[in-house]
Amino acid sequence: MAVTQGKSGGRTPLIAGNWKMNLDHLQAIAFVQKLAWSLKDARFDFDDVEVAVFPPFTDLRSVQTLISADKLLLKFGAQDVSAHDSGAYTGEVSGAFLSALDCNYVIVGHSERRTLHLETDEQVGAKALAAIKHGLVPVICVGETADDLAEHGPSAVPVAQLTAALENVAEGADIVVAYEPVWAIGSGQAATPEQAEQVAAALRDVVRSRLGDEAGAKTRVLYGGSVKAANIASFMRQPNVDGALVGGASIQVEEFASICRYKAHVGT
Ligand code: 13P
Repeated sequence: MAVTQGKSGGRTPLIAGNWKMNLDHLQAIAFVQKLAWSLKDARFDFDDVEVAVFPPFTDLRSVQTLISADKLLLKFGAQDVSAHDSGAYTGEVSGAFLSALDCNYVIVGHSERRTLHLETDEQVGAKALAAIKHGLVPVICVGETADDLAEHGPSAVPVAQLTAALENVAEGADIVVAYEPVWAIGSGQAATPEQAEQVAAALRDVVRSRLGDEAGAKTRVLYGGSVKAANIASFMRQPNVDGALVGGASIQVEEFASICRYKAHVGT
């Protein structure tokens, strides 16, 4: 079966690389240059598939400068944002600052933030609102643990997390949703494409019911968790999966470029 060439609702697929706490600003510059060259060499069409990188905060200014100076077609974003605009919040970074750096996106509610930093659904919702307020598109991450999966099946927890995160988000808002089963992150054991599709469809229904039909049709729902060049095409064949949020493989430049070029992997 061929990889779906376009998605319904006019959704442009998005391949997003979450670098996590890897690559300093000098390494980031070298990486982004190599990625851009590799994709250019392969005559990659950035209008057909959007590519975004999510470096650590300290890299963002360098990445912005490179992308702007070399007129690269890559998008970029941060891995977290404060729920607050400014003030006495030591260590936090305002969406206003990210916006001033021309960030397109910001990840909110990644499972590592939920688990290691005890972020609640309420805080994730507040961060999503802050992102939108500052003109950033939040990539709202949701996903179930292995225990949740055994107890409730795959959809219940991600659906509850997204419902909570969207509670105060206005109808029609521009968001991206990432379904990342916690047990699949960094484990080498990806969800099956069928599970990703089942949960992505349920998450799209949440977007539709909270943000309206148009938002339901246009919102990209990504899958994340052990995505590699070898399995990306199987996820992209699913009608409700519009891209991937890639961790480990996103800091290997040739592997990530190959994931971006998933349309060349038809039949894999
Ligand atoms: P891996 O691709 O390393 O499993 O990580 C997924 C992830 O957490 C992306 O945000």
